Amino acid sequence: LMADSLYIINGFAREYFSNTLFNTEEGQNVGLSYFEERGFTQETIRKFQLGYSLNTWDAFTKTALSKGYNLEYLQKTGLVTVRNEQPGDNYRGRVIFPIHNQSGKVLGFGARILVKNDRAPKYINSPENEIYVKNRVLYGTYFARHAIDKLNECLLVEGYTDVISLHQAGIENVVASSGTSLTQHQLRLIKKYTNNLTILFDGDNAGIKAALRGLDMAIEEGLNVKLVLIPDKEDPDSYVQKIGADAFREFIASNKQDFVLFKLQISMQDAGNDSNRKSQLVNEIAETISKIDKTEDFTRQQDYIRQCSQVLKIDEQGLINLVNKFIR
Ligand code: GTP
Ligand code: MN
Ligand code: MN
Ligand code: MN
Ligand code: MN
Repeated sequence: LMADSLYIINGFAREYFSNTLFNTEEGQNVGLSYFEERGFTQETIRKFQLGYSLNTWDAFTKTALSKGYNLEYLQKTGLVTVRNEQPGDNYRGRVIFPIHNQSGKVLGFGARILVKNDRAPKYINSPENEIYVKNRVLYGTYFARHAIDKLNECLLVEGYTDVISLHQAGIENVVASSGTSLTQHQLRLIKKYTNNLTILFDGDNAGIKAALRGLDMAIEEGLNVKLVLIPDKEDPDSYVQKIGADAFREFIASNKQDFVLFKLQISMQDAGNDSNRKSQLVNEIAETISKIDKTEDFTRQQDYIRQCSQVLKIDEQGLINLVNKFIR
C-alpha cells in the first residue's frame, strides 16, 4: 500500500537524520549546537526524535536509493526533489522536526533553516500526500495525549518549538496548530481527549486574529475555550525559556481568561460609540452563544447570557430572544 510505503520511508528518514545529528561532525557542530543554543537538552532532543540534514546535494537521497527505496515515493514524501533530472535532498542544511501521528508513526517533517533569511522559507514542511494531510494534523499529539487525558485540558500553541520547550518545562498537555488556523478536524482530534481547550497565542494582532477565527468552530464542537495571551514579542517557547517553568505555570494560571468574554471585550473596544457596529456585535455574540449546545451545557449558556448582557448593558431577556433566533 502507498500509505505503508510512505510511513516506512519516513521512519527510515527519521532514523537517518537523527544519526546524522548525533554521529557526524557537521551534525554535532551545526545541528546539535543549534538545538543546544535554543536550550533543548539531549533528553528533549531524543524524545522528540529531532535530527539534522547535511548541507550536501544528495547525501540522504543517495543512501535512500542505495537501500532500494523507490524514487517516486521518496518524492511523494518531499524528502527528495528532482531538479534538472537530478534527484537531491530537499531539507539540506536544516534541523529536522518529525511530525508523528497519535501512535508515534512519522507522518512528515518540519525542516528549519538555521539562520533566518529573506531568500528561503524558515520552515519547509512535508507536502500533502496519502499520510500527511495538513489540516488533520496537530503537532505533538503523540507526546501529549496521556497528559491531556489526565489533566482534562489541552493547551494549543503555534509552533513545534513551543510544544518542545513546554514539555521540557514539564508542561506536557500541549499540541501545536503549526501556524495554520484551526480546522474542524483538529478540534475533533482534541475532543477525543478533552472538552477543555486553552489557546496560548502570541499577544500580537496576528496571534489574536488567528485565535479568534477558531472560536465559533471550537464552541460548535462543544469545546470550552480559554485563552492566554503571551506577552508581545514572545512566544510560549521564548517566554518559558526566559522566565522558567514555575513562573510560566503561574503566568498561565493567572492569565487564563474565558474566550467568549475576551471576544466580547475586544469587539466592544473596536465598536467604540458606533451604534451600528455595536448592534452588529450584539448579534455576533448572540450567534456565538447560540452555538453552545444547550442540551449538553445548559448552565454554561445561561452564564454567558447573564455575563454578556451585563457587559453589553442590554436586557438579559432581549439577549435570550436573540440567541434563540440563531437556534434552529
Ligand atoms: P522558531 O522561529 O523556530 O522559534 O519557530 P516558531 O514556531 O516560533 O515559528 P513561528 O511562530 O514563526 O511560526 C509558527 C509555526 O508556523 C511554525 O512552528 C511552523 O509550523 C509554521 N511556520 C513558520 N514559518 C513557516 C514557513 O516559512 N513555512 C511554513 N510552511 N510554515 C511555517
Ligand atoms: Mn510568528
Ligand atoms: Mn506571532
Ligand atoms: Mn519561536
Ligand atoms: Mn513563534
